[in-house]
Amino acid sequence: MTDSNKTATLTVHGETYELPVHSPTAGPDVIDIRKLYGDAGVFTYDPGFTSTASCDSTITYIDGEKGELLHRGYPIDQLAEKSHFLEVCYLLLYGELPVAKDLETFETTITRHTMLHEQMQYFYRGFRRDAHPMAIMVGVVGAMSAFYHDSTDITDPHQREVASHRLIAKMPTIAAWAYKYHTGQPFVYPRNDLDYASNFLRMCFSVPAEEYEVNPILSRAMDRILTLHADHEQNASTSTVRLASSSGANPFACIAAGIACLWGPAHGGANQACLEMLEEIGSVDRIPEYIARAKDKNDPFRLMGFGHRVYKNFDPRAKVMKQSADEVLDLLGIENNPKLQVAKELEREALEDPYFAEKKLFPNVDFYSGIILEAMGFPTSMFTPIFALSRTVGWVSQWKEMIADPQNKIGRPRQLYLGETMRDYVDIENR
Ligand code: SDX
Repeated sequence: MTDSNKTATLTVHGETYELPVHSPTAGPDVIDIRKLYGDAGVFTYDPGFTSTASCDSTITYIDGEKGELLHRGYPIDQLAEKSHFLEVCYLLLYGELPVAKDLETFETTITRHTMLHEQMQYFYRGFRRDAHPMAIMVGVVGAMSAFYHDSTDITDPHQREVASHRLIAKMPTIAAWAYKYHTGQPFVYPRNDLDYASNFLRMCFSVPAEEYEVNPILSRAMDRILTLHADHEQNASTSTVRLASSSGANPFACIAAGIACLWGPAHGGANQACLEMLEEIGSVDRIPEYIARAKDKNDPFRLMGFGHRVYKNFDPRAKVMKQSADEVLDLLGIENNPKLQVAKELEREALEDPYFAEKKLFPNVDFYSGIILEAMGFPTSMFTPIFALSRTVGWVSQWKEMIADPQNKIGRPRQLYLGETMRDYVDIENR
């Protein structure tokens, strides 16, 4: 933390306190309130943590006003264009772009951890076939705690490393098998001669009855989607992983908690909700009706894939995703995809509407991703599992950073209590 001689002065209950101010390498200064309750006997109040930094980090930085997203300083649009997902995983985990030999070693390590313990298949069979794949992923990832005992001791750096590799490597197999179980098709094992994205596509779409050739257009598009979703500062699911990990829980249980949080439609579940919304709108002539509903305070409807807690300009990931959607559908020869047409017209009309302009609502990462995933052949129920697959490296990187932080302590927020003050028990006959 870059300590500065700056301080903030707070006067409360007639007393004045000087609070340290820390300056980051990028972004707003922070007021250090760690001693506030001890010194002044007051809490701060910030439901949803809109103005609260929960930690310091060196992994990802978002400038919401400029629409910038940096991973270890590298802009997401450059990484999406020039890098690939496993290299971005290395960057997030270790802080620097790898030299060729280190990248090769890392990719080989990940490749060799892609198989699941054979007995883990039986967890899948306990679910109904129509179980949502996210329900299966939460269960199976949590169950990894029951299989990989040699990588659950978080005090051992080697075990933390092995757990990190296992989670990143096995998530595509876990997600693909959730899809296969849903379809009633047999599980497909990973192959060591395929790259990460191609392996995932093959495990999802190949069947034993015939050879499966990975379409390079789709594997490149999938790899880019994984890169775009990899990490995003202290979002809800990452904060869930950090809070769960602060109690010393094992990494598999903590990542399962992150998957559960990501599932919500306000977070990673928005990509599924967005495509369902585009389906419901159906045609461009119905867009004004839905924009009116999104603006109506009495209507709970919101434009899914729009808005963001941090981005108050555009989401740089949405820009890359929109370009990729055009490319993929064009290369696949999918002309005039009605959902893409509705999405583009919805974006155009919403961005021209004063309501969205004044509330600074723009398409986010979830607005276009579903269109690409649907064109690849995925059902909407697989959109959030793919987000979870990608975000695993972000959760794991943030988890490693937190565990290694000497300031790490159990997270335990306080509250503004508005309930009853102490009162005596009343026997039932006297109530
Ligand atoms: C992700 O945090 C991350 O980094 C998340 C993520 C990541 O990579 O981890 O980027 C991934 O979760 C992206 C967001 C996906 N969610 C959606 O697309 C769901 C639709 N979006 C909204 O639910 C909402 O915009 C949030 C949850 C994303 C952000 O909500 P905030 O920051 O808490 O904003 P808010 O709910 O306080 O809304 C501010 C105003 C409100 O109006 P007022 O009460 O001030 O009059 O904007 C309105 C809201 O009603 N508003 C919307 C809207 N989003 C906000 N109105 C219509 N449609 C929307 N989508």
